[in-house]
Amino acid sequence: MSWLNRIFGSKQATIQYPPVNDFSIIGTDIHSHLIPGIDDGVATIEDSLELLRELQDLGYKKIITTPHIMSDYFRNTPEIIMNGLATVTSAARQQGINIELEAAAEYYLDEALVQMINRNEKLLTIAEKYLLFEISYVNPPDNIQNVVFDLNIQGYVPVLAHPERYPFWYGKPEIYRKLKDLGVLFQLNTNSLVGYYGPAARHCAELLIDEDMIDFIGSDMHGVRHLEALKKVPNEKYYWKLAARGVKNSLL
Ligand SMILES: [Fe+2]
Repeated sequence: MSWLNRIFGSKQATIQYPPVNDFSIIGTDIHSHLIPGIDDGVATIEDSLELLRELQDLGYKKIITTPHIMSDYFRNTPEIIMNGLATVTSAARQQGINIELEAAAEYYLDEALVQMINRNEKLLTIAEKYLLFEISYVNPPDNIQNVVFDLNIQGYVPVLAHPERYPFWYGKPEIYRKLKDLGVLFQLNTNSLVGYYGPAARHCAELLIDEDMIDFIGSDMHGVRHLEALKKVPNEKYYWKLAARGVKNSLL
């Protein structure tokens, strides 16, 4: 009997534990900060290459890295991000790192994003439709409904980064349900499953998995500190529960 069979019963279990490549079942990582020097992610190209090599060794096939676009701190543009991607890709290939590389962005829901949407500016997306965005950790946004509506009208599929990391929504499952009803997809941070962001975020992550609300999983890797936590994730039953239910990463 497999490890999953023992925990979840025979119906869901197809994965034998332990798997050879722990993250090969995920395939594509859709959230990270691996372009050096343009946000609070990796500082040097050497750090970027080290993490890419490690991610490849862990079984990932593709990395879609997502630098912050946040008007107060990180005024990145598509041009800056794509130039950075070209630099990282070239350096990776020279080092024999052949993992597939793409870039999008993690947009902070601020006035600048609202203006970009109003001006119909082309925004960076994952697979030409998924728009990754985050919100303040301190105050709930009062305009999220309008922003999501406008994004949908323009053909984007909004994906909320790490929904388990917003304390003002803890204990309010109706908010999560409402967001899902609006058409927002949820991207869980992989390291939430080992408590990297604290027990409350971990608990929320597990509840969202139990409620089958998670659409994507992402490493949100900023540096080596995240890698060490990531390597522990395959020891967690909730990782395998989510993997068994399926996430959209593997379709990208
Ligand atoms: Fe991020």
